[in-house]
Amino acid sequence: MNQNQSLKIYSGASAEEVAADIKPLLDFQEEGLSLEELSKLINTRLVPHFMRYDRPAFHSLYNYFPEAGAALGAKIALEYNQGVTNWQVSPGAAMTEELCGKALCRLFALGPEADATFMYCGTYANQQALYMALHRYAEQRGFNLARKGLKGFADPARLAVIVSRDAHFSLKHAVRTLGLGEESLVTVAVDQNRRLDLNQLKKTVAEIKETRDIFCVVSTAGTTSTGTIDPILYVVDLCRELRAWSHIDGAYGLAYKLVPECSGLFNSVERADSVCWDPHKQFGVPIPNSVLFVRRAEDFKRMAIFGEYFNRPDDPEPNPGLKSPPSTRPFSALPLVTAIRHLGMKKIIERLRAPLQAVKTVAENCARQPDIEICHTPHTGLLCLRLIPEGFPPEQLDQLQRYIYEKVKAECRRSISMTRLDNKTVLRLVAVSPAVTAAALMETIYYIRKLAKEYDK
Ligand SMILES: Cc1ncc(COP(=O)(O)O)c(C=O)c1O
Repeated sequence: MNQNQSLKIYSGASAEEVAADIKPLLDFQEEGLSLEELSKLINTRLVPHFMRYDRPAFHSLYNYFPEAGAALGAKIALEYNQGVTNWQVSPGAAMTEELCGKALCRLFALGPEADATFMYCGTYANQQALYMALHRYAEQRGFNLARKGLKGFADPARLAVIVSRDAHFSLKHAVRTLGLGEESLVTVAVDQNRRLDLNQLKKTVAEIKETRDIFCVVSTAGTTSTGTIDPILYVVDLCRELRAWSHIDGAYGLAYKLVPECSGLFNSVERADSVCWDPHKQFGVPIPNSVLFVRRAEDFKRMAIFGEYFNRPDDPEPNPGLKSPPSTRPFSALPLVTAIRHLGMKKIIERLRAPLQAVKTVAENCARQPDIEICHTPHTGLLCLRLIPEGFPPEQLDQLQRYIYEKVKAECRRSISMTRLDNKTVLRLVAVSPAVTAAALMETIYYIRKLAKEYDK
């Protein structure tokens, strides 16, 4: 590998080139290949097109390189290919998942009644939370949602879930798959720092209270675009007033509750009805690895479907397969347990803290640069900004950010992302791993500033 290639964080090949390279791998034939042949094929044809999440210049998304302890757990889980549905499928795996869930509830201080279930991803965790919310709402109206479905509601079109404008699109998936449709999502504006705006929330509730049935309000603990944490305490209080379910989407951000100086931002998480978290975002565990917490273990009973051949009501506990839909489910708990046990909480907190500090330092630094607009004060490990060179025509600023993004992508030495905040295109820097230091982020800032200067208006 020459020096130029080794600096790349991905090959930079076009879609056609990648397809041509991996074609021999997908050529299913009568006779098989030896493991050496297969591994050579993969290493030469496929691996060069992988993205290198371990590089300091990878600061675009939430992907993380595997942690050694997690890799050990994953290897053992694979070696025995354990399912976790229930005691009959694997007593050891079912019990590990169950006890890991309880241990995570204690780690996040979610209260003595709390419980957890492992999910494939945050998207499904949000969906299940909304289902349980709707189920409870139906119970309050005297019927069983599991049996009657939406037709149990006098007017399902009135059903509403309140979310902030910056909530993740998985909530759209959730209301689509629940049969409520996207019109059931009522979106509230965000404040200057992109937190769900409490005044707007109160106003929205007052406006729709008579015409809509608000059964859930979602706060995001670490929004996808800016990493901002919504004012959880107030939203949870409001939910109690409304008798609505409070769900916290902590897919990205909940991990930072473990960092003492950030924990205040998560005040009242333990009072929410449900919380989701994606350990696959910061814990170096194999994708996918997600957890859904509930404040009261009994809330999961709304998910149970009993079978004749297993998952019977009188089967021995634990029975993780009764708490969330997948019957065959991966043993995600083991790599999470081994990651935590291998690193220890002290090191985990240090590793979580490092990228947060890097982003804070960079934000402070950028705030002093006249040609950089910081779009929010970072709560966690994300920073959105815009390059605004002196005298640059305002109407072309979106094109400039896109130009920078495309140029960085084409060069393959670093990875940044781009998003829209309100009506502006902005550049987004993400630091989830401790490899992403302030120096690495500043190098990118200097580079994008150079690109901005080169832009031909
Ligand atoms: C806030 C938030 N919620 C939910 C999700 C969806 O999680 P997953 O990608 O695990 O489905 C994401 C993904 O980035 C997210 O940032």
